[in-house]
Amino acid sequence: MANNKDSQKFVRNFLKGTEEFGSRFWKSIFRHIWLERARTRSLETMSNVLLHLHPTAIRRASLKMTYTFCLGGLSFFFFLTLIVSGVLLMFYYVPSVTQAYQNIKDLETVVFAGQFLRAIHRWSVYAMVITVFLHMCRVLYTRAYRPPREFNWIVGLMLLLVTLLLNFSGYLLPWDQLSFWAVTVGTNTTKVTPFLGPEAQFLLIGGYEIGQNALLSFYTLHVITLPLVAAGLMSLHFWRVRKDGFSGGL
Ligand code: HEM
Repeated sequence: MANNKDSQKFVRNFLKGTEEFGSRFWKSIFRHIWLERARTRSLETMSNVLLHLHPTAIRRASLKMTYTFCLGGLSFFFFLTLIVSGVLLMFYYVPSVTQAYQNIKDLETVVFAGQFLRAIHRWSVYAMVITVFLHMCRVLYTRAYRPPREFNWIVGLMLLLVTLLLNFSGYLLPWDQLSFWAVTVGTNTTKVTPFLGPEAQFLLIGGYEIGQNALLSFYTLHVITLPLVAAGLMSLHFWRVRKDGFSGGL
């Protein structure tokens, strides 16, 4: 009886709170109101994927820091760092064969904190490749790829591929000797693509050798196409982490 009264009081408080609390728009984002009660506070947090990525019920063992080493979260953190530093770098860079090299030199020598900005971007790329790889090893080691997480494992593999492609497409942009020859060698390997053959290389670099078309094509892939694909796959990955349940302790 007391429980029933309590819950009625709770609903009354909740409705009163939502009226006072805010607009329909706000409520569509935050399902529960932040009443000063332990229950509503936890409901607010747990019902929001931005505040609580993991499913609400997880095994105790998976709460241990040593279970995930936070490697998935770190990969995401480095991705965000890359987006922010990359957008800032775009202010100083023109994807043209006559300007790109000079732009990077100016960034290193003239622009205030330009060297620092470039270093942040470059080191975050390395860090992301390492953390994504280690995260995959952790998933393998804990056998978290087993049902019902097979689909998320495949999404993860796609994320690994996109991470490597993001890395490779950025390599050409400084337009120096190292990047030119590395990408020449790299794109030559596409000539052996089954069925397409040399046409695959032509499609990728927009010609028969690395030049203006290739630079523009890599730039577009690097700053628009691949980051959007990565962001879409990450949303799917996170949604599946929540829906599939967390593997800890299995
Ligand atoms: C950009 C790359 C990636 C990001 C940002 C990312 C992020 C995350 C996060 C935040 C989690 C939950 C917490 C954790 O386990 O650390 C997770 C779980 C998971 N990830 Fe990734 N991940 C990425 C790449 C991969 C790769 C390459 C694979 C495997 C090929 C993978 C497979 C999985 C699986 C199966 C889970 C569920 C783990 C479990 O239930 O124990 N992910 N990921």
